Amino acid sequence: MCGIVGYIGHREAYPIIVEGLKRLEYRGYDSAGIALFDGTDLKVSKTKGKVADLENLSEKEITKHGNVGIGHTRWATHGVPNNINSHPHLSNSGNLVIIHNGIIENYDALKQELISRGYTFKSDTDTEVLVNLIEDVQKQEGVKLGKAVQIALNQVIGAYAITVFDKNKPEEIVVARLGSPLAIGIGEDEFFIASDASPFIEYTKDAIYLEDEEMAIIRFHKGIKIRKIKDDSLVAPYIQKLQLNLEEIEKGGYDHFMLKEIYEQPKAITDTYRGRLLRDQAIIKMSGVEDNMKKFLNANRIIIVACGTSWHAGLVAEYIFEDLARIPVEVEYASEFRYRNPVIREDDVLIAISQSGETADTLAAIKLAKSKGAFVFGICNVVGSSIARETHAGAYTHAGPEIGVASTKAFTTQITVLTLMALRLARAKGTITSSDYHRHLLELEMIPDKVKKALKSDNHIKIIADIYKDATNCLYLGRGYNFPVALEGALKLKEISYIHAEGYPAAEMKHGPIALIDENMPVIVIATKKGHYEKVVSNIQEIKSRKGKIIGIVTQGDEQVRELADHVIEVPETLESLSPLLTTIPLQLLSYHIAVMLGKNVDQPRNLAKSVTVE
Ligand code: F6R
Repeated sequence: MCGIVGYIGHREAYPIIVEGLKRLEYRGYDSAGIALFDGTDLKVSKTKGKVADLENLSEKEITKHGNVGIGHTRWATHGVPNNINSHPHLSNSGNLVIIHNGIIENYDALKQELISRGYTFKSDTDTEVLVNLIEDVQKQEGVKLGKAVQIALNQVIGAYAITVFDKNKPEEIVVARLGSPLAIGIGEDEFFIASDASPFIEYTKDAIYLEDEEMAIIRFHKGIKIRKIKDDSLVAPYIQKLQLNLEEIEKGGYDHFMLKEIYEQPKAITDTYRGRLLRDQAIIKMSGVEDNMKKFLNANRIIIVACGTSWHAGLVAEYIFEDLARIPVEVEYASEFRYRNPVIREDDVLIAISQSGETADTLAAIKLAKSKGAFVFGICNVVGSSIARETHAGAYTHAGPEIGVASTKAFTTQITVLTLMALRLARAKGTITSSDYHRHLLELEMIPDKVKKALKSDNHIKIIADIYKDATNCLYLGRGYNFPVALEGALKLKEISYIHAEGYPAAEMKHGPIALIDENMPVIVIATKKGHYEKVVSNIQEIKSRKGKIIGIVTQGDEQVRELADHVIEVPETLESLSPLLTTIPLQLLSYHIAVMLGKNVDQPRNLAKSVTVE
């Protein structure tokens, strides 16, 4: 959480930093700030609110000139979101300025020590402690900034991506990372620093991603030196070529990134299986699986760890892996897994699912499983992310950047990857018949077109959204493969519209939630033809007899549910195992339209951030 941007070079830094912060606002938007060296002095401007509020500061309040600068968009951890707690933070002397993404866990002990030495603090943040610790080391040890940062970080417990410079030496910026991402863009005699590469893709395609426990000293005209924070050893820079395009991170005519990303799903799913699903040869090719086939085939069980929407994709995978490949699967919240002393054996395979590839809990669960000898496979969207690097092998979803904070195309592409894996393993194990296997390949290939058809209900869904936008509660029900979709539908609604919603397996309704049902309760029921249809119809009847309002997600041409429900939204017919890829679509659109009608900030819902790099 929190986005950081820095620049040192021959251009004006302000527009690069501000535009970069806007692209990183998905990481947090409680406050924004910028520090520029204008040739003679350091100017810091910051404000509670969004980057747009920073831009709107008056000429007196903000300096826009300088070739060296750093900026920050904040997701508050220590200290409420206000002007004082906003980054950048200055050291007591006013010489050093810092931005930070992460948490310094032992900040209080460090702060007390610094207070005892005469330091004072304006903010409640851990970051202000860190910049003063660096200053104190500089003074005590008489060392240069880079060395002082290194010594200070060796006293710190926690996670960080930091960028710091000294106004008396503005030709040098020092950066470091542990647990929070940090990319360095390398241009012609200019350098860009950011939490991900999006702020600098129009300037350079060459980037270095710092590894954990690495720091870099970036000097204008002189270049970069990377060192290990712990032992000071030099690291040879590994420069990667970026694949990202500018169009991919722009709204492209849509009102919101979320809507754009919902509509991108046919392409995203195609991109996910392109080169992997070779139907004419009847094969699925995934190098990460192929190279580790023995591990998968000999697995005692598969443990899936993830958070939020990615956890829901894991639940869908539990059905498909057990159903097709007959491998026992357990799905765990990464946050619970890491703290409950789980039994992990060497013949367990752990699959970690994460759009961002930066989720702290998922990363910690991976490290735990690795330490117990398990084989760890990652499914990530962001190329080169921490989770992609930390896992033994993996598969990217290739969904393209997901910028709306509510996950949409990440979910359907994760399910696509997991389906491919389950089919490949089922084939290798002989647990799927040849005809069933071929049917799955054919149907999977048809999913993007069917998603397009499902998207055609958009206007109809908008009308339904208008009827239910003032509801205060909603229930989502589904069975089998569509139970996780019900959970996901409820999560989408609550996170962007702030309407309370719960997802349940349809049959569980009788064990409690049915008490909530009255004429004011909208109940969204996934009732596709394949998969416990008759049983779900009985559940619908139970809701109807208690006067609940029923919105049915049904297979095209359905008549039975249409007669019972207040509204139906049709999706094309497909195999039960692939139905989540279609039933999810109307639920995403319903949440989107309700949130827009309620005037909510769909792309940046309150209190949330796109990548949760703190536990
Ligand atoms: C919900 C949402 C979150 C994420 C969760 C995990 O729309 O986006 O629940 O799914 O924070 O994030 P990743 O997948 O990046 O690990």
